[in-house]
Amino acid sequence: MNKKISDFINKKNKTKLVTLTAYSKNIASVLDNYCDLILVGDSLGSVLYNYKSTREVTLNTMIEHSKSVRMGIKKSLMIVDMPHNTYRNPKEALKNAKLIMKKTKCDGVKLEGGKKIINTIKTLVKNNIPVMGHLGVLPQSDKTFKFKGKKQSEKENIMKDAKLLEEAGSFCMVLECVQTSLAKQVTKSVSIPTIGIGASNNCDGQILVFDDLIGLNPIKFRFVKKYLNIKTEISKAVSKYASEVRTRKFPSKKYSFN
Ligand code: KIV
Repeated sequence: MNKKISDFINKKNKTKLVTLTAYSKNIASVLDNYCDLILVGDSLGSVLYNYKSTREVTLNTMIEHSKSVRMGIKKSLMIVDMPHNTYRNPKEALKNAKLIMKKTKCDGVKLEGGKKIINTIKTLVKNNIPVMGHLGVLPQSDKTFKFKGKKQSEKENIMKDAKLLEEAGSFCMVLECVQTSLAKQVTKSVSIPTIGIGASNNCDGQILVFDDLIGLNPIKFRFVKKYLNIKTEISKAVSKYASEVRTRKFPSKKYSFN
């Protein structure tokens, strides 16, 4: 196993894992100073492109954003989401995962689902492609984004799927919108890290969509804490620029070639 991946796994039960999404170089280069893992998430479909769901995101879009992110990362693990309909069977998944790895030089890929995609995950792992799993709410296939774990059947399925992901060789898994006690049970029952989003502090680490954390994305979810209102800061700067252009204060001599 690649050393970066084994170091990440070894942090379980020692320190909380810090992870975030990034879609471009400049943001990734800031996040890299604080993160253990950076995910190029297919959430970029709704965040950047206004798609109704992540199902519309293409392989090419993921590859182009990931190439940009790669340039900003020096130390964190970089994982790329495989978009919808790019891993419908092991053969298709392997071809597309290899392409993602080759073009973006990422450290691994993320796939949504449990039992249904276990053979696919096994195939990728056998071919030395590190896999991050994703259980709970699955935006590529779920119709509603209701949290999971209230019903006994959901609890049982997520517990079974988590064990399957571990056995298949995934190096970690996202738990999205999972009830607090279930997140605790899953985290205790697997030897690989669980990364929560809306899944309580019982997980081994956390992930948020970066644009949500800085208040750039207007959508509000209960599990998102806004650490900054970047829109206010951008507005202040742009308003000052607009005023200086209109009053001919900018560009002054300092910013001109004499
Ligand atoms: O697409 C994404 O950004 C994700 C994270 C929110 C886990 O899957």
